[in-house]
Amino acid sequence: MAQGQDASDPILQVENIEVIYNKAVQALRGLSLSVPKGKVVTLLGSNGAGKSTTLKAISGLLGLEDGALSAGRILFDGQDISRMRPHDLVRAGLFHIMEGRRIFEDLTVEENLTAATFALSGRGVARTPFDLVYDYFPRLHERRHQRAGYMSGGEQQMLAIGRALIAQPKLILLDEPSLGLSPLLVEEIFTIIGRINRQTGVSMLLVEQNANVAMAIAHYGYIMETGKIQLDGPTEKLMHDQDVREFYLGHGGHGGEKSYRNIKHYKRRKRWLS
Ligand SMILES: Nc1ncnc2c1ncn2[C@@H]1O[C@H](COP(=O)(O)OP(=O)(O)O)[C@@H](O)[C@H]1O
Ligand SMILES: [Mg+2]
Repeated sequence: MAQGQDASDPILQVENIEVIYNKAVQALRGLSLSVPKGKVVTLLGSNGAGKSTTLKAISGLLGLEDGALSAGRILFDGQDISRMRPHDLVRAGLFHIMEGRRIFEDLTVEENLTAATFALSGRGVARTPFDLVYDYFPRLHERRHQRAGYMSGGEQQMLAIGRALIAQPKLILLDEPSLGLSPLLVEEIFTIIGRINRQTGVSMLLVEQNANVAMAIAHYGYIMETGKIQLDGPTEKLMHDQDVREFYLGHGGHGGEKSYRNIKHYKRRKRWLS
């Protein structure tokens, strides 16, 4: 089921991966997904489902947390990257924007962007001018001499995305960009993320708990639960699927209940009742 989308020209293929933390906790149980070139794919699921773990497995960051890929493989642009180191992956064009906006709080906006260029030394490509970042995020231009730590959560998220753009990646992994932001800011940032995808052609794997905003800009979606994909499809289809509407988007007649964990149980019950 997880390979149900047309993956004729994928930038990323995750095949049946398993991840174990501390040699004890199994966080991913045979997870597969793919991201076609130039598309936005969203990975949805409730807290603890394994979304961030999936991104860390892809970008090579599991080792920092005593996690390990114990099965499966990951292909980036056709190449097996399962054992590649994080900084080599950045050079190869894979950029992970981690949850919680990892920016340098003591540096100014402009210094943060400058620092992002250091990671690229030796890659031998033209660096994205800062102007491109400022075109997408005029507010960053206004605040370019301000210390990043004093900016609002939304502006820090913009800076985190701006830092990714400097690297001119082929694929951006985005972990919950909506976290802690007001609905208005979420709307603004997601509109810009969509525009970046359309105008630069960069592929994106977007992790979110906020299914509504993610589905609005993504072409394809995967819904995961306890380490596995439960459901996937083109977002247009998912948005109109009755189960998804009731349980993932909160549109059902179930009193706002939208637990990802309940869906299996619910489907079983529905079968019994019908
Ligand atoms: N560094 C870690 N050490 C041990 N267990 C972890 C670690 N990080 C995550 N986990 C566990 O792995 C599971 C998935 O976590 P995570 O990928 O962070 O979920 P999500 O991003 O969907 O909220 C959870 O049960 C969580 O407790
Ligand atoms: Mg997470």
